Amino acid sequence: MPEVSAVVLVGGFGTRLRPVTYAVPKQLIPLAGQPTLFHAMDMLPSAVSRISLACGYKADAFEAYLQRHPYRLPVRVVREATPLGTGGGLKNGADGATDPFVLVNGDVICGLDMDPMLEFHREHGGMGTMSFFEVEDPSPYGVAVWDDDRRITKFVEKPPKESAPSRWINAGASIWSTSVLDHIPGGREVSLEREVLPKLLDRGVYGFAFRGWWEDAGTPARLLHAQRLLFDHPRTGRFAPKSHLPGARVVPPVASGRDSEAQGATVGRYVTLGDRVRIGPGATVEDSILMDGAEVGQGATVRRCVLGPGYHVAPRSDLADQCLANEGPSA
Ligand code: GDD
Ligand code: MG
Repeated sequence: MPEVSAVVLVGGFGTRLRPVTYAVPKQLIPLAGQPTLFHAMDMLPSAVSRISLACGYKADAFEAYLQRHPYRLPVRVVREATPLGTGGGLKNGADGATDPFVLVNGDVICGLDMDPMLEFHREHGGMGTMSFFEVEDPSPYGVAVWDDDRRITKFVEKPPKESAPSRWINAGASIWSTSVLDHIPGGREVSLEREVLPKLLDRGVYGFAFRGWWEDAGTPARLLHAQRLLFDHPRTGRFAPKSHLPGARVVPPVASGRDSEAQGATVGRYVTLGDRVRIGPGATVEDSILMDGAEVGQGATVRRCVLGPGYHVAPRSDLADQCLANEGPSA
C-alpha cells in the first residue's frame, strides 16, 4: 500500500469552549487521557506516514505539546499568519501532500474505520470522498445528499433544521486528490464547506456513510459526550487510558496524568485528570475534565465540568455543568 499523508485542521479559536480555550486550544483539551487531537490522529488510515498540522490560533501550544509528547508519526506544524478558514488552512497545510491525501478536523472523534474508506476512494476515483454520520438534528453541521452511486449531489453547511436536505452530516474526515487544491483560492480566508465544496460536486465527490459513534468536541456538552464515547470505545492497538490515584475511591473509567492526588476523594466515572491535579478528601468529581494543576477543595462536588489549567474549586462548593478557567480574553 503506497504511503499517504494527512492534513489535520486545528486553527480555529474554539470560541464555544471559552474561557478554557483562552488557555488551551480546543484540540489539546485532554479527553479520556489524551488530547482530542491525538484521538483524531488515531483514526487516520494505517497507510498514513506523516501529518501536517494546519495551525492558526495558539500554534506555539501545539508545537510545545508535540515536543513533550511526540506522536507515533512525524507531525509538521504549519502556521497561518492570519486565519485562513478550513479551505485556506488546507491549502496552506497541504504542501508536499501525497495524491490522494487525508483531511481530518482535529476536533472530531469517531469509530470510523478509514482503511476501507481509503479503498472506497481508490475504487470510486473522483476528486474526493467524505465521511457521513446520521444524526437527529443536522443543523449545526454540513449536510449532504448522494445518488445511488454514492455521488454527492447536494451539500449545505449548517442549514436551518427545517430545510436540511438529509440527516447525514459531514463527519469531518475526508480523502482528496491533490487536484482539489487548485480549486481553493490562495492568500485569503476560504471556507471549504461553504465556498469550495458546492463547486466541486460536478467533479465527483463521494459519500462514505458509517454508523456507530461520532462527536465534534466543540462545546462543553459535546466535549464531555465525546469523552464518554472514547472511554466506552477504546481503539484497540492505539491508546489505553491509565489511572493511578492511591487512596482514592475510583469509579472507572478514569484517566489520570502524572503526580495527581485524590486521597479520600471519589473520582469517576468518566473523568480525566491532567498532571498535578489535587482533589481534597471527601470531594467528588464525576463526568468531568480537570486540566493540569487544577485543584478541588475538600468536600466539594464537581459534575459535568471542564476546568482549565490551575483552576481552583473552593472547599465544599457544588459545581455542575460549568466550563471554567483562570484566563480571560486579555490573558
Ligand atoms: N488551520 C485552520 N485555520 N483551521 C481552522 C480554521 C482556520 O482558520 N478555522 C477552523 N479550523 C479548524 C478547527 O480548529 C477545527 O479543528 C476544524 O477546522 C473544523 O472547524 P470548526 O470550527 O470546528 O467547524 P464546525 O465543527 O463548526 O464544522 C465543521 O466540522 C463539522 C464536523 O465536526 C464542518 O466541516 C462541518 O461541515 C462538519 O459537519
Ligand atoms: Mg468542530
